[in-house]
Amino acid sequence: MESPFKADVLKGKVALLTGGGSGIGFEISTEFGKHGASIAIMGRRKNVVDEAVSALKSAGIPAVGFEGDVRRQEDAERVVEATVKHFGKLDILVNAAAGNFLVSAEDLSPNGFKTVMDIDSVGTFTMCHEALKYLKKGGPGRNSSTGGFILNISATLHYTASWYQIHVSAAKAAVDALTRNLALEWGTDYDIRVNGIAPGPIGETTGLSKLMPQEINNTATDHLPLYNVGEKWDIAMAAVYLASNAGKYINGTTMIIDGGLWLSKPRQLPKEAVKQVSRTVEKRSRAAPAGVPTSKL
Ligand code: COA
Repeated sequence: MESPFKADVLKGKVALLTGGGSGIGFEISTEFGKHGASIAIMGRRKNVVDEAVSALKSAGIPAVGFEGDVRRQEDAERVVEATVKHFGKLDILVNAAAGNFLVSAEDLSPNGFKTVMDIDSVGTFTMCHEALKYLKKGGPGRNSSTGGFILNISATLHYTASWYQIHVSAAKAAVDALTRNLALEWGTDYDIRVNGIAPGPIGETTGLSKLMPQEINNTATDHLPLYNVGEKWDIAMAAVYLASNAGKYINGTTMIIDGGLWLSKPRQLPKEAVKQVSRTVEKRSRAAPAGVPTSKL
């Protein structure tokens, strides 16, 4: 789909994306690139990173890839340094690397819980920590009058509670806390904006295939607002908006992009029944206000 934004809104920016070689991360890499940014991708799987970089380059986007695991501080440090060495600076960090699987709380081992916390929460902090010195206003190579930008990919799972997602809910709640706290501290001290995006179910992603496996036939969607799965494009457009100058006054927010899905609850009554029942109840309550015995009227 065509972007509604001008092709130069991220012109001259250098962006590093963890998990930037596949799924939502790759879509953001591509759209950032199409809007003028140079792209560095960090990922655990060399073949995925290599393929993503070739695809970006064939679209005319300056791109480089680095193998690395956000759970290892030395990888985070090495990849941030290598990105700056390659492109001369760093303006944008996107934390899109994540881990997920469906499992009931009682079947989840503490190590399984920790693994997802390590990737999503600790990994996000580690990347931010290593990138800070380059993202600061006046950081090496940055001639901008403002600081850089951090985007954390989160979720809506923890807003209420989510079946079989205790580990990811905890991890994404921590990511949202990082977004707000870094927005406060680094926004104040270094003029760095830190925001998040909380996607709902997005088609053609590993996340969706893990959370709604094809083996499970889920048809109970009639009470869900705007229900259909979103597109990776929906997330990438929001990312472009937040990263661009249009988002210059947005700091510490996590934008929910799910068509209103997280608000959904089963319908209490059909709409026609509400029309009839509501008037009847109103008439009855006027005739006999609650608590007043009809014999007294
Ligand atoms: N159900 C229950 N526990 C599981 C599990 C599952 N489906 N998959 C992994 N685990 C547990 C393992 O048993 C292990 O715990 P243990 O040592 O107590 O047995 C722990 O999680 C770590 O598993 P391991 O396979 O060693 O981790 P890994 O580092 O190789 O992989 C994952 C990390 C498990 C998060 C893997 O799914 C992954 O790499 N995901 C990245 C891609 C992704 O999930 N994208 C979706 C983003 S929304």
